[in-house]
Amino acid sequence: MSIALIPGSFDPVTNGHLDIVERTAKKFDHVLVAVATNSRKAAPLFTVEERLVMLEDVLRPLPNVRAQPLRGLLADFALEHDVTAIVKGLRAVSDFDYELQMAQLNLHLSGVDTLFMPTAPEHSFLSATLVREVASYGGDVSSMVPPVVAQRLKERFAR
Ligand code: PNS
Repeated sequence: MSIALIPGSFDPVTNGHLDIVERTAKKFDHVLVAVATNSRKAAPLFTVEERLVMLEDVLRPLPNVRAQPLRGLLADFALEHDVTAIVKGLRAVSDFDYELQMAQLNLHLSGVDTLFMPTAPEHSFLSATLVREVASYGGDVSSMVPPVVAQRLKERFAR
């Protein structure tokens, strides 16, 4: 049984994340989406629990995909869950340096490989950071995130 692990902050989940999850779900028996707090990033907009609720909602149509919180090291989580491969989306060459370093670190710590999947071109500009910024100014993000996420962003930034 093959298991893919897709880790990230998902603050919030975007259509770009979903594209990667959906395509991975066609290639592995099971997909674990692991929601982490990235210690390198500023204070999150949504708590891990809030992000999980949104993810559970949007992942419901995908029967072989499950979302879980990730506490601690990704390498430990990958070993505990008998993961076949970690899957990361790449939007542009600029993502590559950091992702390569993380992939090599995780291989060193766990022996688990990371596979890179290029984001579909229509999502290549998309990031959760930009979505948060547009939403914070009252901009329309409905083409960038699932409807439930657009609604939660509207509520969060309501004045
Ligand atoms: O969506 P992000 O913020 O780019 O995801 C980064 C994430 C969560 C995958 C990374 O920070 C991570 O793996 N965190 C878990 C802790 C860990 O293993 N750290 C060492 C590798 S950076």
